[in-house]
Amino acid sequence: MKLCMIGTGYVGLVSGACFSDLGNKVICVDKDQNKINNLKKGIIPIYEPGLEEIVKRNFRNKSLSFSSDLNNSIKKSDIIFICVGTPTKKRSSEADLSYVMDVAKSISKLIKTYKIIVTKSTVPVTTGDEIEKIISKKVSKKLFDVVSNPEFLREGDAIRDFMYPDRIVVGAMSNKAKQKIKNLYSPLISKGSKYLESSRRSAELIKYASNAFLATKITFINEISNLCEKINVDIEDISIGIGSDKRIGERFLRAGPAYGGSCFPKDTKAIVSTADKYKSNLSVIKSVIKSNEQRNFLLISKIKSILKNKINRKKITFLGVTFKANTDDMRDSPSLKLIPSLIKKGAFINYYDPTGEKEIFSKLKNVTFSSSTKEAIKFSDLIVIHTEWNEFKSINFKINSKNKKLIIYDLRNLYSSSVMKNMGLKYFGIGR
Ligand SMILES: NC(=O)c1ccc[n+]([C@@H]2O[C@H](COP(=O)([O-])OP(=O)(O)OC[C@H]3O[C@@H](n4cnc5c(N)ncnc54)[C@H](O)[C@@H]3O)[C@@H](O)[C@H]2O)c1
Repeated sequence: MKLCMIGTGYVGLVSGACFSDLGNKVICVDKDQNKINNLKKGIIPIYEPGLEEIVKRNFRNKSLSFSSDLNNSIKKSDIIFICVGTPTKKRSSEADLSYVMDVAKSISKLIKTYKIIVTKSTVPVTTGDEIEKIISKKVSKKLFDVVSNPEFLREGDAIRDFMYPDRIVVGAMSNKAKQKIKNLYSPLISKGSKYLESSRRSAELIKYASNAFLATKITFINEISNLCEKINVDIEDISIGIGSDKRIGERFLRAGPAYGGSCFPKDTKAIVSTADKYKSNLSVIKSVIKSNEQRNFLLISKIKSILKNKINRKKITFLGVTFKANTDDMRDSPSLKLIPSLIKKGAFINYYDPTGEKEIFSKLKNVTFSSSTKEAIKFSDLIVIHTEWNEFKSINFKINSKNKKLIIYDLRNLYSSSVMKNMGLKYFGIGR
């Protein structure tokens, strides 16, 4: 099939590359000319394991191309995926749909033959209705269908999630669109992926409800970990104990920092905002948002107590600054709250991240970047293990640190408390 992905970000690039790998002809479009030029040269804008290989292979065999020419790309395609961002609006908790609506307006001027417009972007329920309204102002309803097909890939595991999804959700209102989208996904369905058809509005809400539920699970275990710290109980026992119940499930039950990333913070706010509009009170999700915001303050006060109230002039190392491992995405990472707050209190921050230096931190005073774990921990007073990269799981702190009184605060519980203590290291984890 001939596809066009509008927006070549995380979702557009990964799904475009994967669709081309499944035998389709895909054009990835972006208004960022620089990104398109780089992609044509083989420069991948994001760090995502396995992505470069798939992009290069399909670009070489001409299944995948890159363009900033929306007109031509739409003309050449049967199915148009909207994959632009839906960030939180400034001074509001609503989703900003301006990028999506701009694309819908552009599409409405360009349709001459039957097209399916699919929203892969995460959009509030009824956005599909709005897109349909916009396009039908210019085009006969016989010439297009609007479908919701939310994306569930996780950064860091995006290729595997796309190729082997737990489920594919498609909300289409016409049989013609239903059949075409099902054909598009047939290689994944035949490998055993669950294919769920629903109304368009249901598909839109499934995405937000999924993210809100996962954010709730993380927040729940984070709060239980606070209790564990008070009563000398290890959160790992609790996670295993409750996660073994199939009704609960073991994933997303690892206590750690506040949830972050490009989706959970904005999507929890957006679903609450949608519900408020319909006078429906999502009180559980409201509490989750509040608890998650408070978690950063809680971790700062824990650091303060670990350092016996003396943060001023302390050398604090962050290992990892992204919100999770295997990605370079800094959007809403907890480190963006923790690091500035520690600097304000007089700390000197040094950090190492396997995906390199972050522009946002190079603007801050008293923040330096080290090019290796070894370098980063050499002269540190306190090491904060912020992100769960594999390379942070077997560090020899004793050999690599010059500080005999080194303290480690492991926000990911990568190490065993007893092993660390037996080695004579001052070690704190989460919920232990
Ligand atoms: N990142 C994820 O892990 C993830 C997972 C599932 C769903 N989503 C959802 O998918 C959507 C996209 O997220 P993302 O992380 O890929 O965003 P992103 O910011 O990485 O990419 C969006 C891209 O769209 C481009 N763009 C904006 N307006 C455009 C236009 N008019 N024409 C062409 N290109 C345009 C931008 O230049 C940018 O490159 C969001 O709604 C998000 O919530 C994201």
